Amino acid sequence: KRKMILDLDTGIDDSLAIAYAVGAPDVDLIGIMSSYGNVLVDQAADNSLRILELLGATDVPVFVGEPHSSTTEHFDVMAISQQIHGKNGIGEVALPKPKRAVETQSAVDFLIDAAHKYGSDLTLVPTGPLTNLAAALKKAPEIATEIGNVTIMGGALTVPGNVSHFAEANINQDAEAANAVFTSPIHLTMVGLDVTLRTLLTTTETKSWRDLQTTAGEKFADIVDYYIDAYKVTSPHLHGCALHDPLAVGVAIDPSFVTTFDLNMFVQAEGEDYGRTIGDPARLKEPTNVKVAINVDQDRYLQAFMDNLTGLFKK
Ligand code: BDR
Ligand code: CA
Repeated sequence: KRKMILDLDTGIDDSLAIAYAVGAPDVDLIGIMSSYGNVLVDQAADNSLRILELLGATDVPVFVGEPHSSTTEHFDVMAISQQIHGKNGIGEVALPKPKRAVETQSAVDFLIDAAHKYGSDLTLVPTGPLTNLAAALKKAPEIATEIGNVTIMGGALTVPGNVSHFAEANINQDAEAANAVFTSPIHLTMVGLDVTLRTLLTTTETKSWRDLQTTAGEKFADIVDYYIDAYKVTSPHLHGCALHDPLAVGVAIDPSFVTTFDLNMFVQAEGEDYGRTIGDPARLKEPTNVKVAINVDQDRYLQAFMDNLTGLFKK
């Protein structure tokens, strides 16, 4: 089984990413790191513990990550994130207080140890800012060539972004960190808005979870219905909610869900296009450093997503 670590700012689609990884038969989820974005870093860790408990996956350890970007002193959750994910990050749904606590080791040290231990068997899926990974690369640069694959949800090859005309939220939280990751020797796959905004879930699917009449099915239906309602206000043209983060987990497991384009990319960390992920044509002669997902087989992915999550929620 492939060893997987998730690095999440646990909001609603991050919670779906947890479910996808827990439900995937060929994945050994060895830990979840927390990040900031949809919620603060401690809340993200707490949400991950609650979601794991809801899914009966109480053997997956949770590690707290960096609380803000390397270039700022402080992080405040944006009003728009609260509108989309709810103030608690999980759609204002109350899940029981976790029976377990977070681990004492930091997320960054956990990642470094795991890279040394598992090497190319390790897949990392960050679906929040890249601050933890950049900090780990700074502390232990050798992990860049040890880790088998890093598949991120983040960025947008095509504009517009979702927090500015150019930038996607996760990259925008810490463009310096993202640039350090993109320009490192790490094996990187980018699952950005180009494909995630085309991979949508509707109330038809959440209703089928509710109809299972299990706690996990009902709670996930409540959480995701909040997200679908928020999308009706913020993105009425989409007719559903974007499966940003669980798509990255799906691609990490089965890259054939997407078509990728090899590019030499960097991340703009200053000026009006701060946070833009750029495949610079002037660098086309440079070796490529990112596989960018540019097309997605939505139907096949959605089928796999539903088979996986429905099987998990039935238990
Ligand atoms: C990304 O930003 C977060 O709000 C979501 O969880 C997702 O990871 C989409 O831009
Ligand atoms: Ca996220």
